[in-house]
Amino acid sequence: MSTEFPRVATLRTPEAFRAHLDKVGIRLGFDAELADPSSSPLARPLEVGGVRVGNRFCVLPMEGWDGTTEGEPSELTYRRWCNFGRSGAKLIWGGEAVSVRPDGRANPNQLLINGRTVKSIAALREALVGEHRRRFGANADGDLYVGLQLTHSGRYSRPHLKDKPEPLAAFAHPLLDRRFVGSVPQMSDDDLDQLVEDFVRAARLAHSAGYAFVDVKHCHGYLGHELLAARHRPGRYGGSLENRTRFMREIIDGIRAEVPGLGVVVRLSVFDTVPYRKNERGMGVPEASAAAGYDDAFGLVTNGDLDSGLDETRAVLRMLESKNVRWICVTAGSPYYNPHVQRPAMFPPADGYSPPEDPLRGVARQIEATAKLKADFPNLVFVGSAYSYLQEWLPHVAQYNVRRGMTDFVGLGRVTLSYPELPADVLAGVPLQRKLVCRTFSDCTTGPRLGLVSGCYPLDHHYAEHPDAETLREAKAVSRTAATK
Ligand SMILES: Cc1cc2nc3c(=O)[nH]c(=O)nc-3n(C[C@H](O)[C@H](O)[C@H](O)COP(=O)(O)O)c2cc1C
Repeated sequence: MSTEFPRVATLRTPEAFRAHLDKVGIRLGFDAELADPSSSPLARPLEVGGVRVGNRFCVLPMEGWDGTTEGEPSELTYRRWCNFGRSGAKLIWGGEAVSVRPDGRANPNQLLINGRTVKSIAALREALVGEHRRRFGANADGDLYVGLQLTHSGRYSRPHLKDKPEPLAAFAHPLLDRRFVGSVPQMSDDDLDQLVEDFVRAARLAHSAGYAFVDVKHCHGYLGHELLAARHRPGRYGGSLENRTRFMREIIDGIRAEVPGLGVVVRLSVFDTVPYRKNERGMGVPEASAAAGYDDAFGLVTNGDLDSGLDETRAVLRMLESKNVRWICVTAGSPYYNPHVQRPAMFPPADGYSPPEDPLRGVARQIEATAKLKADFPNLVFVGSAYSYLQEWLPHVAQYNVRRGMTDFVGLGRVTLSYPELPADVLAGVPLQRKLVCRTFSDCTTGPRLGLVSGCYPLDHHYAEHPDAETLREAKAVSRTAATK
């Protein structure tokens, strides 16, 4: 257990929270008092380009590694999506990553969209909307905006067996390739041309399944994101930023041409760092330095200079705005090589490392990046991520950020697994149920790393009682023993 940083739950008053932030020099604003629901910035609807979204909470995509091997949802998948529906959030950013074709599945239980599965992918949305109506009223879905996240897992594909990586990389990566046994195949330009068509076909199916938009996923080290970093890849999809964004542009153009009624949005890792690895003491340490020439990243932050790191992102956002893609979900880095950047946590997942910084710094970094981009692109709609670690202070930071126009929506990831109804409680002016607040134990990540389903094992009784819970407990006990030897 990491004890180096104070637990957020112990920072009980606004003064204590502020004093800690000031002491360690983390720039993070928050409202000491939550507004009355009738006047809360979080309750204000947003209307853009004919789309009305009823409040400022967004459920981020959260996959569960729990579909069938054919790529259809299981009972656990339905349960999670129903939880999204009863959360009270009015923006559902993609539900979870759905692979556009079999070789791009991150695990053999990832959802897959094709002619055979599309009915059940449609049923997932209907279940979510049905739950929303049951909880909030028969017409409550008029301002609910639900999309589907489309992906290809690229380097992180494991389509057949949970413990058998079958990477399809964007380029030869000097550090990440070493993490695989054997050679790492790269996708050819022809493969990528075909994949563009697969994304467009998947988008058409998503539209037919009733989704209002698709997210053309470009984050977390998966293929779309990795292509943005493919500076040293030869050919049409590498080198210049023009080439590195070709994949994204062609998918968007293809969807616009062939599925005109469908919204297109992008979830983007807007900045990145060098990959991190665990040192002998279990701490996260950088594996390279930009000073030594590392440049295999998109939006690389060097020496803490976030602003310069965002320059490439600004160029991509200008391109997206010119294509009338107006909805952007901000995230950063990757859960595989810099999880403390992507999902700040006190307790690392099985394949992670102890946090090299106060996790609040990771939260503040994503908030700052979102605010900078919102200031530069006022006509784009931004969703922020990485709020779960804020715990009791989440609503206070969320209200401050939305009130000050630093983001349009507050995205919720891990906390939706432990406490799906957090938005509904905040919007009703009800105090948070502290026993449901996500404490970032990372079991939702450790589970899948061990080939188990993802969920909140510590706080959601459904997972505490799931057969996988025992396997998880045993595996964690074994790794604790190994660590103390
Ligand atoms: C178990 C789990 C599943 C996730 N699944 C997805 C996914 O399918 N697509 C995606 O873009 N991000 C996914 N994420 C990342 C989250 O959407 C989010 O960016 C991250 O958890 C940080 O937000 P938080 O602090 O609210 O948890 C996942 C994260 C976790 C922990």
